[in-house]
Amino acid sequence: MGFRRRLNPLSNLLILAYLVRFANHFSFAYGKSNGTQDSVTPINHDLYHTSGALLEEIESLVHRHPDKLSIEKISGKNKGYEAEMTVVTYCRNRKENDDRTKLRILLTFGQHARELITTELALRLLSILSEEEFLPSVDRSTLNRTLDRLVIKVVPVENLNGRKLVEDGELCERRNGRGVDLNRNWAVDWGKKEKDYDPYEENPGTGPFSEPETQIMRKLSVSFEPHIWVNVHSGMEALFMPYDHKNTTPEGIPSKIMKSMLEKLNHFHLKDHCLIGSGGGSVGYLAHGTATDYMYDIARVPMAYTFEIYGDLKASSRDCFKMFNPIDITSFNSVLNDWSAAFFQMFTIGVQQMNGLQPKAIGSSFDNWVSIDDYLNGYLMHRKSRYGKKMEVLDLGLQEIRTYFRLFLLSSVLLLFMFCSRISKSTRPIVSAMAL
Ligand SMILES: *[C@@H]1O[C@H](CO)[C@@H](O)[C@H](O)[C@H]1NC(C)=O
Ligand SMILES: *[C@@H]1O[C@H](CO)[C@@H](O)[C@H](O)[C@H]1NC(C)=O
Ligand SMILES: [Zn+2]
Repeated sequence: MGFRRRLNPLSNLLILAYLVRFANHFSFAYGKSNGTQDSVTPINHDLYHTSGALLEEIESLVHRHPDKLSIEKISGKNKGYEAEMTVVTYCRNRKENDDRTKLRILLTFGQHARELITTELALRLLSILSEEEFLPSVDRSTLNRTLDRLVIKVVPVENLNGRKLVEDGELCERRNGRGVDLNRNWAVDWGKKEKDYDPYEENPGTGPFSEPETQIMRKLSVSFEPHIWVNVHSGMEALFMPYDHKNTTPEGIPSKIMKSMLEKLNHFHLKDHCLIGSGGGSVGYLAHGTATDYMYDIARVPMAYTFEIYGDLKASSRDCFKMFNPIDITSFNSVLNDWSAAFFQMFTIGVQQMNGLQPKAIGSSFDNWVSIDDYLNGYLMHRKSRYGKKMEVLDLGLQEIRTYFRLFLLSSVLLLFMFCSRISKSTRPIVSAMAL
């Protein structure tokens, strides 16, 4: 008789936990790969540079073209974690680096560690800018006129620490050297979690700008004040504009201009393969705390984009090198050729648009610039005024009860959340892993 009787609520719970574990194990082992280990493609070192070799190559490029290129290394540190970033500045005549009438463009590559192809594109663009390589179908005098009118800053490997983990065999790593997703660490809508939020892949850090990489990029955007920002990723083929944290694009004419540029690039250089629209509306999930939303909303960059330059949607989600990077020389070259052409077309359109605007109009778009420090101060002060005063009124005992109650609520929510995220795991419609 005894067996059923002897089960107390605790052992019920234990059995439940065991069943859940077993079910998990079962679906993990047999659900996706039906019993066989998916084969994992290794990095193709004939096509891809290591980060070290890539940065060396860029350095020697800069040394061969001191009239056009300059290089700086910026490092940052937070709680014992250090990051270093290489920034290359291009100006046709380096003496005009600070000429404020030129179009300013800020491009970043390799924000996600496993997206190796993006950093190869950075090298290709710099080679073309230094006129060591050429775009076949571009008229030289148009190119000359464009290059005379702009200053470009390129961050070839934003996430060097994460990239080194990938090179050491963690082919699916997308985060930085201490596990934070650098495209969730920015201030716009930071830390908000969707129901399909992936706590591993999308770890936003301990607060906005907790990561030195993000801080360096923010400072760069504040001092350089770009007119065009592109955050280059892979995992799919897409040309995204704001917003990532909601599924709409901004209202008004500037947004239409942004979109029409993307349509041109897609049509003339990318075989109309790319999805176009807001990141949040097109990628299949909302992303909070992204760099592009910050650049558009806070840094007031008039044209802020995220380009997704390659993706193998049929690859197994564990075969990350293959999913995020072309693995054969033909597709490797065509990705680099097509996207270089698209970037130079973007430079040309940007210059034409700037020539069409009065210098005053360009200035005025920066009048409503909000410095991040003001923004953060405002944010912190706001928080303080909401909670600071109330806290003083509470006596200690009540505070403790509140703390325990919060802890209890938090853990229930966490449990519920883990449960829900398990259920909705398979509902991301477009990409089987995170690209943006
Ligand atoms: C796994 O699935 C594939 C395709 O459905 C099949 O060809 C293969 O034999 C299966 N492997 C095992 C071990 O069941
Ligand atoms: C473009 O500029 C290069 C120098 O950078 C020069 O050699 C070439 O003749 C120019 N081409 C045209 C068509 O202006
Ligand atoms: Zn990415």
